[in-house]
Amino acid sequence: MKKRVGILTSGGDCPGLNATIRGAAKALYHRMGDKVEIVGVMNGYDGLINGNYREMDPSEFSGILTMGGTILGTKRTPFKKMRVIEEDNVDKVKAMKRTYKEAKLDCLLCLGGNGTHKTANLLSQEGLNIIGLPKTIDNDIYGTDVTFGFHTAVDIATEVIDRIHTTAGSHSRVMCIEIMGNKAGWLTLYAGIAGGADIILIPEHPYDIEKVAAAVEKRAQAGKNFSILAVAEGAYSVEEAKMKRKEWTAKRAEAGYTTATNRIAHQIEKITGAETRICVPGHMQRGGSPSAYDRVLATQFGTYAASLVADEHYGVTVAMVNRHVTSNPLVDIAGKSRLVPDDCDMLNVARAMGISLG
Ligand code: F6P
Repeated sequence: MKKRVGILTSGGDCPGLNATIRGAAKALYHRMGDKVEIVGVMNGYDGLINGNYREMDPSEFSGILTMGGTILGTKRTPFKKMRVIEEDNVDKVKAMKRTYKEAKLDCLLCLGGNGTHKTANLLSQEGLNIIGLPKTIDNDIYGTDVTFGFHTAVDIATEVIDRIHTTAGSHSRVMCIEIMGNKAGWLTLYAGIAGGADIILIPEHPYDIEKVAAAVEKRAQAGKNFSILAVAEGAYSVEEAKMKRKEWTAKRAEAGYTTATNRIAHQIEKITGAETRICVPGHMQRGGSPSAYDRVLATQFGTYAASLVADEHYGVTVAMVNRHVTSNPLVDIAGKSRLVPDDCDMLNVARAMGISLG
């Protein structure tokens, strides 16, 4: 019997989405030949809600290994709104189930991050055959050691830090580089270490601005004419840690700070007198071609998803655990996230190197 496999990409994009789609598609065609048809659902769950899908031709999966972004398009469709009927009066869960049925899908591959996995689990519990694939530059999906997109983003952020180093040295400045990651500091931590940052600030470890300034001053006293800070976009201070997120974000906005690094740079300048600049590479960290590491990982994950389809093993998401590709039940990982623990090896490496964590 023929199998119709749907694929969608949801949430923020990242390098490696197309490589994963290709891995899954090529492995499915190789294994099942003309017994498989692939249906692309456009723009994530939005396409599933609005019936925006089309049958893909096998040729569409060629030449996309190195391509950034996603050939299927993506959109953020917040999980918390999935069961809420809004002004358009659409019952989104009902609509997604209807599209799945209309498209005659036997299963659906959902490539995405934490939000995507929550909705994937919801659909699985509603009786659809779902397989998740862990994508995000944040590397914060529970139950997997790594997500595709992460290492490419580490490479990009590291190159930014490398380039900032030379201009920091020329001008004797303190440079604050803001790295993506609102709740998880993995990207900042890895890029900070790879780029030789002097100070690394992550959301899991609220910073004390006095300690940050002291680290800058210590370097100056040791004859170093510049300092590099790798700051996660979601970094916050020990004082802010005592407040609710809404409260401190409002306070920052009131003070005219648009980003985490804005505030930190201003305070460092005030305390130390050092000339300070910020650099926000932003979505560049999510753009362009995946690294060789991510191409391999994406291909491993994609082909594993194809084997799950062939085995009709649904209600799971693909994962890397202790260097082996495996799967976790969606119900076990949905709603959880993997943050940097205080005893993380890489944090200990930073500590051992004398890198200030604020
Ligand atoms: O989830 C990946 C991520 O890049 C985060 O690091 C960042 O906080 C967020 O997405 C940015 O989202 P958007 O692309 O919607 O601005």
